Amino acid sequence: MATVEKDEFTGTETTGHEWDGIKELNTPMPKWWLYSYYACIIFAVGYWVIYPSWPTFSDYAKGMQGYSSRAEHDADLAAQRQSRSQWTEKFAAMDVSDLGDDHQLLDYAMAGGKIIFAENCAPCHGNAGAGAPGYPVLADDDWIWGGTRDAIHTTVSYGVRSDHDDTRASEMPNFLGDEVLEETQIADVSHYVLSLSGAASDASAAERGAVVFEDECAACHGEDGKGVADMGGPNLTDGIWLYGKDTAGINAQIGKPRHGVMPAWSGRLSDVEIKLVSLYVHSLGGGQ
Ligand code: HEC
Ligand code: HEC
Repeated sequence: MATVEKDEFTGTETTGHEWDGIKELNTPMPKWWLYSYYACIIFAVGYWVIYPSWPTFSDYAKGMQGYSSRAEHDADLAAQRQSRSQWTEKFAAMDVSDLGDDHQLLDYAMAGGKIIFAENCAPCHGNAGAGAPGYPVLADDDWIWGGTRDAIHTTVSYGVRSDHDDTRASEMPNFLGDEVLEETQIADVSHYVLSLSGAASDASAAERGAVVFEDECAACHGEDGKGVADMGGPNLTDGIWLYGKDTAGINAQIGKPRHGVMPAWSGRLSDVEIKLVSLYVHSLGGGQ
């Protein structure tokens, strides 16, 4: 055995290696460090065995526990569905008009409906149904197609002038293009329409327009101009306009009418989702 040599300056043993008069001191790693290192190795081996670890040719080592984050996620999702199913089953089984004022169910519909509305309806109808030109306000009590829970549910399910077979579908005739009315008659009836909501109008033109209105318009907009929900003819007396607002807008609608399109949601949203969002719309302020 080689004799142990001590470095004269530091008092530490040397390893016996020497290069050009420089000797290597023998300073081993601290014991605490060494043992933690061994512990880590043992831990890693245990971890490999218990949890998924290295890839194999066709798959990967799944570990004793068979754990996977995907399975964990699926279990979470199943638990969520389970906790919701008590609600969704109730909604699936009932008509929107049967809800009455069951506050628990209504609260659930409001929370769910709000999210569905923001994702699917707000781009056209505005946040919380505030509306935009050509897209009706859903937060007031002016309804083109009716504001009961049932009517709203039907509109949302099948749409208006949509590609669904059961769509709501009346169209205002093209009075000028189809030569049903002369331009002067259109000007007269515009004044009459303006007068209905108390807007400034020419009294004698409006008087002549009233006759035209009774013949050509009342079928869809009502004798009194208050609208006919079955025909989709909007109320013209309340000062709430889709396109109208002034003589130019009203003239344009009579001469060359626009036909707003509301998509059908049946098939795109689930039945329960359509019920939730219809109840939400009904609650926005103007439900009948
Ligand atoms: C692409 C634009 C668009 C989207 C998206 C849209 N709508 Fe509409 N919606 C319309 C238009 C346009 C009308 C007016 C139809 C008409 O002229 O009669 C309408 C009408 C309605 C009406 C009838 C209003 C009344 O006064 O009778 C309801 C209710 C309604 N939408 C609810 C919804 C809901 C709920 C959603 C989301 C699930 C939605 N809409 C998504 C365009 C849209
Ligand atoms: C066959 C049914 C029908 C007849 C007849 C009809 N309308 Fe309409 N009218 C509608 C419908 C439906 C709308 C809504 C169009 C839409 O939602 O895109 C409308 C919209 C309007 C608007 C726009 C309302 C707004 O809120 O901006 C005016 C104004 C109007 N009609 C006036 C008339 C006048 C005046 C006549 C008669 C000369 C007439 N309509 C005849 C169905 C009719």
